[in-house]
Amino acid sequence: MSGKAQTHKPVEKLTPLEAVAELERLAKEIAHHNKLYYQEDAPEISDAEYDALWHRNAAIEARFPELIRKDSPSHQVGARPSGRFTKIKHAVPMLSLGNAFADDDIHDFVDRIRRFLKLDAAAEIPFVVEPKIDGLSINLRYKSGVLIQAATRGDGTEGEDVTRNVRTIKEIPEKLHGKDAPDVIDVRGEIYMPKSAFLKLNERQAEKGEKVFANPRNAAAGSLRQLDPSITASRPLKFFAYGWGEASALPAKTHSGVLEAFGRWGFIVNPLIKVCKTEAEVLARYRYIEEKRASLDYDIDGVVYKVDRLDLQARLGFVARAPRWAIAHKFSAEKATTKLLDIDIQVGRTGVLTPVAKLQPVSVGGVMVSNATLHNEDEIERKDIRIGDTVIVQRAGDVIPQILGFVQEKRPRDAKPYKFPHVCPACGSHAVREEGEVARRCTGGLICPEQRVERLRHFVSRNAFDIEGLGEKHIVAFWTDKLIESPADIFRLSDHKAELEEREGWGKQSVANLLKAIEARRTIALDRFLYALGIRHVGEVTARDLAKAYGTFDALFHALKTEEGRQELQSISGIGPVVAQALEDFFGEKHNRDVVHDLLREVTVEPYVFKAKESEISGKTLVFTGNLDGMSRNEAKARAEALGAKVAGSVSAKTDLVIAGPGAGSKLKTAQALGVQVIDEDAWMAILERSA
Ligand code: IVH
Repeated sequence: MSGKAQTHKPVEKLTPLEAVAELERLAKEIAHHNKLYYQEDAPEISDAEYDALWHRNAAIEARFPELIRKDSPSHQVGARPSGRFTKIKHAVPMLSLGNAFADDDIHDFVDRIRRFLKLDAAAEIPFVVEPKIDGLSINLRYKSGVLIQAATRGDGTEGEDVTRNVRTIKEIPEKLHGKDAPDVIDVRGEIYMPKSAFLKLNERQAEKGEKVFANPRNAAAGSLRQLDPSITASRPLKFFAYGWGEASALPAKTHSGVLEAFGRWGFIVNPLIKVCKTEAEVLARYRYIEEKRASLDYDIDGVVYKVDRLDLQARLGFVARAPRWAIAHKFSAEKATTKLLDIDIQVGRTGVLTPVAKLQPVSVGGVMVSNATLHNEDEIERKDIRIGDTVIVQRAGDVIPQILGFVQEKRPRDAKPYKFPHVCPACGSHAVREEGEVARRCTGGLICPEQRVERLRHFVSRNAFDIEGLGEKHIVAFWTDKLIESPADIFRLSDHKAELEEREGWGKQSVANLLKAIEARRTIALDRFLYALGIRHVGEVTARDLAKAYGTFDALFHALKTEEGRQELQSISGIGPVVAQALEDFFGEKHNRDVVHDLLREVTVEPYVFKAKESEISGKTLVFTGNLDGMSRNEAKARAEALGAKVAGSVSAKTDLVIAGPGAGSKLKTAQALGVQVIDEDAWMAILERSA
């Protein structure tokens, strides 16, 4: 576990008081991770770490049953559904499974069953052994053999209606084959994404600049919970059936018999499922499946054992969140210890600095590992990982290996806390961290070699310089051959005309077309120009606000140089401290200023022209405060701007007019204190009427 988790006291040594505090901490932590996992599809910890929390909670509860909390995680399943889809109450709750980690736990499980059923040691209890698929469980309701509804597990009682999406999954039959399907049956199983398909999907997502998924489970969840079913349809989802909920009748008296019927009805039942007669056979099957794990095209995180006879299942029933007749035997996450040789900082395409652990190569579950992610600055600090430490590395499924913590006894005496760099290792620009963000980012956008291609691609994109015929492919090729290293080079490509015409795939005509497209963009509107620079937080709308407020690039650039100018910048409507800081960071870097000035030698930036009407408020600075009955704030702002006024976010000595509705507060007071003219909504409407 993490450096901190390692220091937790063994459960046997806890005093009752400590146990109370621990149970409270675990309940909170588990609830937090449930929310991330079930509602946000964004787990922060691995399944093994999550299981460890559960395990510790269960162990403490077993030792101090009188201290079990009302809100104990062991009474709950998952978290409540997130509310994007219609909710559906399950006819029979979708429960969870108890976990076992060691062979002894399995022995106890079988023993408990024997005692509960009053069976002697010699009595045979056949178990169905199934791989535990790491996907999402789903309830499929069939009426007269026809699929009528599909719901996610949700909190176990109530899930989300994903019927339209589920209908796009080919492995889920719309109609059950054969004639022996009961009138009503809820077939349950796991929707998953094959590992190979997951890797391909991520490649495509990355190419399109869209979100990449952390693992196949998240990809499956993200694909299923799409409000647009055509997106689900485009994702390669599959399904294994392994259980059921409400059923008006069942086709067999054993679990394995029902699964066989599922096969006949058109479902895919996992081929590794087997009935085992003894505990030894069960455990042998577990090892067999564990060995197969890496070669399977889907993630599994353990093996599930279920009592095969349905009459025995019925007698055994449930405890709290799980059946007494089944258990999940989890695989231990593959772990190893090795030395942390160094921490490398990688710079992503968007400038995010990511720490990567350089390890003495070590085999983790049969795979050599020499790099592992350390996530971010806070993570290193939280786990207190230092260079030279002996660290615990974990590899779970397809996820990039992670560092869980360090071994205290092996820490070298001189190991110092790691200092995360504040300059970009790729270009030397400052790397800054915004409030509330975990990432530290390089501010050298246009000069940073790691970000250049991305920035250039943005620079020429449709809403920026819009250079036709200069796609990402060309940018990468020209960049590699040093033809385009910074934006200004695009406008100097004509110096390399002969060379370009010689390039593979190019000819006189295509080069002429490209150069013509470039020439056509030598003059550009200020807002497009600002947007093209790719300054953080300066999107199209903000670029337009800036252009409107300053009119020329020079005016903006000079405003940034003085404290007063920077203050004023923040008071412009639409611009806040975050944008102001981003502009300061960007233009604060000499490299960036050089790139921009170089570019300005090549292109002409048109001042922003007000197409506003002449009116009594033209050129005036207005501030709206309080509520307006007749129109939204956005409309009021647009109307004012159309009449040539500026709208500011706060009142200063430069404000000409304040329009105050009911509920106006501090802005109104400031206006009164400064002697700024204040009018009400009626007077504002009158201005609009007079200008119509
Ligand atoms: S049986 C009441 N069988 O594991 C029994 N579950 O931790 C309910 N799972 O929510 C489940 N493979 O998402 C069962 N062969 C399998 C499974 C399986 C994966 C998942 C399922 C369930 C969770 C329980």
